[in-house]
Amino acid sequence: MRSFFTDIPAAKPDPILGVTEAFRADTSPNKVNLGVGVYQNALGAMPILNCVKEAASLWISQEDTKTYLPIDGVATFNSATQINLFGADSPVIKEKRATTVQCVGGSGALKLGAEFLKSFFSSSDVYVSDPTWDNHQVLFGSAGLKVSTYPYYDSNTCGLKRDTMLEALHTLPSRSVVLLHACCHNPTGVDLTPADWEAVAEICEQRGLIPFIDMAYQGFAESLEQDAYAVRLFAQRGLTYLVSNSYAKSFSVYRERAGAITVVTASSEEATRVNSQLKRLVRTIYSSPPSYGAQLISLVLNTPRLKEMWLVELAEMKNRILDMRALFVETLRSAVPDRDFSFILQQRGMFSYSGLSSSVIREIRSSHNIYALESGRICVAAMNENNMEYVCNAIAAALKKGV
Ligand code: LMR
Repeated sequence: MRSFFTDIPAAKPDPILGVTEAFRADTSPNKVNLGVGVYQNALGAMPILNCVKEAASLWISQEDTKTYLPIDGVATFNSATQINLFGADSPVIKEKRATTVQCVGGSGALKLGAEFLKSFFSSSDVYVSDPTWDNHQVLFGSAGLKVSTYPYYDSNTCGLKRDTMLEALHTLPSRSVVLLHACCHNPTGVDLTPADWEAVAEICEQRGLIPFIDMAYQGFAESLEQDAYAVRLFAQRGLTYLVSNSYAKSFSVYRERAGAITVVTASSEEATRVNSQLKRLVRTIYSSPPSYGAQLISLVLNTPRLKEMWLVELAEMKNRILDMRALFVETLRSAVPDRDFSFILQQRGMFSYSGLSSSVIREIRSSHNIYALESGRICVAAMNENNMEYVCNAIAAALKKGV
């Protein structure tokens, strides 16, 4: 049969979601997926939060239409998102200086932000940390923006290349876009301190850089408030900038694709114009967003009892990750006594940037059915007391084999 598609080559599997595809196809009873950033509870199950279940029953009784949502989404979801980002008393909210548009997950928010930048700052290049989440470069690049990196992770100290990073940011042309991770840096878990954020904000202001803060893990490092430190600092300093945020992890609603893009402007009139352009872009990509996830989140965030319940459940997830991080380091200490993994304790969020080579990662996958990212990123949020020894012994065996 003749086909138009004969010459289409196969695309490479996605470096993160492709690992999950391979994991799903694996029939071993011992398999463990430490690749994708999905939180699992102590039993290895991906939990549906009780606050989300309650919101779902409420929503079933409240929903009275299936007509389209407005192009920019559920208004109460967007306003509650601004409270999470800036705090309820923020002048940004009081003066209506920010516009928020509900998006198809955090990736959709990044993509919409990228398209917005391409429309109005087409000669600006985007700078992402080295390394960054695998999808960042692709999302901005596919919008037609040139993407380069700035120094970030120091593999010698397993920490931040603070001075080199600040020097590099200082040399960027004005109106360059700087992508920053608000907290729980993906993939390294190495975050900026408040003093580092002050320095970055100062440079952005002095050099006229456009900050784009990506916040996919609010509440997974310290708390809702503390994790928004950078977002709030930039607002206090009177900067104008973009923030993408995701609720996938913090509400454990990955497949509902709930996120938002927020643009902080200098006036409410400016915010209204930006909103109109974001809506124009949404209309050309997916017309208007889906309703379900945003409605559930809006119900939780706008119902004090459910919000309180959520904060407790969020803290439980964060604390379990902290426990697993500590147990991982402790179990590795016994399994691999000649190597120091204690730097992992300084990292924050779902991931451990383990320093394991891609050959070790390939070895634990082929010999032990343990899936992680080739960069050495391991999802500690998928570890539990039952799989911990198995994983650490597999790492020890791979290291011993000298792969
Ligand atoms: C991850 O980094 O594993 C998550 O953000 C999931 C994804 O879409 O890559």
